[in-house]
Amino acid sequence: MTDIVERYDIPEHFFWLRGTRSGPPVEYDSATGMWNVYGYPEAHHILGDPATFSSDTMRVIPKGMIPEGEFSLEGFITQIDPPEHGKLRKLVSSAFTRKVVADLEPRIAALTHELLDAARERGRLELVTDLAYPLPVIVIAELLGVPAGDRALFKKWADALFQRDAKFSLNEPAEERNADIQATLGPWKEMSAYLADHATERRRQPRADLLTRLVEAEVDGERLPDQQVVNFAIVLLLAGHITTTMLLGNTVLCLDAFPEQQEKVRADRALVPAAIEESLRLFTPFAALGRSTTREVELGGVTIPADKLVMVWLGAANRDPRQFPDPGAFAPGRDPNPHLAFGRGIHFCLGAPLARLEGRVALDILLDRFDPLRTDPEDPVRFIPTPTMTGVRRLSLA
Ligand code: HEM
Repeated sequence: MTDIVERYDIPEHFFWLRGTRSGPPVEYDSATGMWNVYGYPEAHHILGDPATFSSDTMRVIPKGMIPEGEFSLEGFITQIDPPEHGKLRKLVSSAFTRKVVADLEPRIAALTHELLDAARERGRLELVTDLAYPLPVIVIAELLGVPAGDRALFKKWADALFQRDAKFSLNEPAEERNADIQATLGPWKEMSAYLADHATERRRQPRADLLTRLVEAEVDGERLPDQQVVNFAIVLLLAGHITTTMLLGNTVLCLDAFPEQQEKVRADRALVPAAIEESLRLFTPFAALGRSTTREVELGGVTIPADKLVMVWLGAANRDPRQFPDPGAFAPGRDPNPHLAFGRGIHFCLGAPLARLEGRVALDILLDRFDPLRTDPEDPVRFIPTPTMTGVRRLSLA
């Protein structure tokens, strides 16, 4: 693993990528005012106990840090606890089904070839710009039913909301945090208005797309209110591309770093899905999830008081040697591989089948078209500056 750290100059903010942690599995960080969870059994436990570890993190963030009344998180599925969560999840799952996703396979393959052909004509291939970013964005835009040609707008909004390089801290002066959030309000409102217009249009004139299915979805005679449709579409648009972009870049990086594994996967394509799973474990795209304690709780040998913000470091848990032998090795044959990259329990990633499909189809095609699949030594790999998002932002192929 040290080789990887040196070879790719892995930034310090991805501490879990820089070697096995030796500290306690749960610890309080007085600098940020939050509790950090690094151990696998502890993270596994938290994600399975939503009554104690609530997804509503806003309730413990001091007043003044979030501009009052400006954000509506109504229907923001990742922030909702039972019983409301179950109802919303059932509604959106009825629109975003496995069949809807599975039907996308030929389109994903065609798009991957188109994007790679276009890059070949330009004479270079920078994986993120040429494939890993546009592919999932076009797929989710087409699925939702918004014009894929508007993707420069989606990128502008996503960058404004996600590219924050500082680590979140509860001790940050409220005014600073507030000012930071104010800067994201403009893009947030633009994105909401854009999706609200499309949702209204679908109510008037239904089409064969996911937005129409969402406005029409019904469970026990109830439909989703407009604000919830818009907020769910925002989750899909954002979650639907940033994470899969990271997954594709990280998988190519893993195969570059472990050439003998690349040879094995190339020789036996049945290993492609396992390579995707192992990339998710080793370079976990969403490295941390937030939860808030609803009561005092014992975990990993310490007591966490009630109403505290807990950061569950999936990136670290997925490399806990108590769960994964030789955790720094990229081993697609690892079986079982119960990584937590898609979360666990009631909030388990709804887009996992889509992300897995995109990863599998794109990797198969990359292996067909590039032998070997190698990073360009002349153009060093660069990483995303946000500590909770493990991914490359530039990776040129040789
Ligand atoms: C939830 C990771 C791709 C939609 C989650 C969660 C994780 C995650 C860790 C759990 C959040 C929590 O418990 O607080 C990932 C990764 C992806 C990926 C690593 C790609 C490699 C996608 C895609 C979509 C998507 C492609 C949709 C198009 C969602 C949704 C939820 C979710 C809607 C919320 C589920 C709920 O709260 O019930 N994802 N995701 N994700 N993801 Fe993904």
